[in-house]
Amino acid sequence: MRWTERQRAMLREMGVPAFWPVEPDAVEPDAVEAAPPSPAAVADVAPRAESPRPAPPPARAVEAPTPVVSVAEPAPVRPAPRATRPGPAPVASPAGRAAPPAEVVLGPRPAGIETMDWPALRTAVAGCQACSLSQSRTQSVFGAGHIEADWMIVGEAPGEQEDKLGEPFVGRAGELLDRMLEAVGLTRAEAPAAQQVFIANVLKCRPPANRNPLPPEVAQCEPYLLRQMALVRPRVVLAMGRFAVQSLLKSSEPLGKLRGRVHQVQGVPVIVTYHPAYLLRSPADKALAWDDLCLAREVLMQSRAQSPDRAPDQSPR
Ligand code: URA
Repeated sequence: MRWTERQRAMLREMGVPAFWPVEPDAVEPDAVEAAPPSPAAVADVAPRAESPRPAPPPARAVEAPTPVVSVAEPAPVRPAPRATRPGPAPVASPAGRAAPPAEVVLGPRPAGIETMDWPALRTAVAGCQACSLSQSRTQSVFGAGHIEADWMIVGEAPGEQEDKLGEPFVGRAGELLDRMLEAVGLTRAEAPAAQQVFIANVLKCRPPANRNPLPPEVAQCEPYLLRQMALVRPRVVLAMGRFAVQSLLKSSEPLGKLRGRVHQVQGVPVIVTYHPAYLLRSPADKALAWDDLCLAREVLMQSRAQSPDRAPDQSPR
């Protein structure tokens, strides 16, 4: 791992003695804590001569064939019934087991999400029945952090630990995220809005067996994330991983091609970077993630220079 002189200078200036450690390129035993990137996502990263890439992980047993989507009939107050339409025939997974087809049952989504205040939004997410993930979750994971944070982090979806605890990024990916944040002077612990981040996920509920989010699930959950962004009004958003990027930017371009630029969503600058779970498996790419953090930091500094005080938000907290 080689740092540029500029990066070293920034680290010294920030008082960070060493950037986060580089773990060996071993297969992570608990890599399923967050949905591992698909081989396609791994291939997103341009190979670099000095860092041979480990082979992409095998596709997960539950990785889905085409999802079956059915829309539940009204009954707004009752949980959505299961689909009666059978999905495609089960497909044998690489492990030899038959993987059931992923099935998404859509239910009613609360009206007026785009004008909800924080309490209403929390209540709506807690009781959401807009897709069948609500049937398998222990609880939804709303997000956490400073509600007026300058930085907002967007991840993918709760994993097993997050589903149990109701907090985002609590596993090994979360530990790496903490170190990444620390390297740019940020924290998720209680701190002023300039230092404490707000963390949210594209999906508020855990996909079974940590499979990838499916497009109808992402679409159903999207208004919650957009409303969180509108309420936090961050100066910069860090979109971590393929699903955060695709959901926010509406782009299917490879993540590697979207990095290094400042995108805009709802008037907020968005910086694209790799998901910490991916970086655990491909630690050489932490150098690229560091570049992304530096870019986000530059955007933030510019925003502070242009408008030191943000207009106070009138929404009830
Ligand atoms: N935990 C989360 O909350 N989100 C992720 O994207 C990964 C792990």
